[in-house]
Amino acid sequence: MQELNIGPAADFTDPGRRIVECDGIEVGVFKLDGAFYAYGNICPHMGGPACQGRIIAKVDEDIAPDRTSRGFVFSKTQLNVICPWHGYEFDIRTGRHSGNSKMRLLPVRVRVSEQGDVIVALPPEIRRGIADAGMGVPPRPSPPAA
Ligand code: FES
Repeated sequence: MQELNIGPAADFTDPGRRIVECDGIEVGVFKLDGAFYAYGNICPHMGGPACQGRIIAKVDEDIAPDRTSRGFVFSKTQLNVICPWHGYEFDIRTGRHSGNSKMRLLPVRVRVSEQGDVIVALPPEIRRGIADAGMGVPPRPSPPAA
């Protein structure tokens, strides 16, 4: 299992993100409220670079006590990354799709070393799962036609 030191945790913005290559696999590394999360940079929908999309607060519907909608509001607790190909949104903390919890980004191990560096590790089973999903550093499937 290869470990990759991607630099000091303090150098990450918060919230922040980097796309790194680890053992031939693209990985999205996120920092959110001081914690780190990492996923294979492949969307479970059609293989797009999901970790490279915009980071935005989840949109929730505000339901009144009488069960009517008061409109939509940005979540104060959940940030999502949006796949740039078709807009599927994934919770940065869990990697799960907002509307279908069975659809998720493949998690990658990430930790902060005693020296304060961010370390990404790809155990063989995770590496195989990401590779089987069709992701590596290129080739990547072409984006869909507009
Ligand atoms: S490939 Fe990500 S939403 Fe379609």
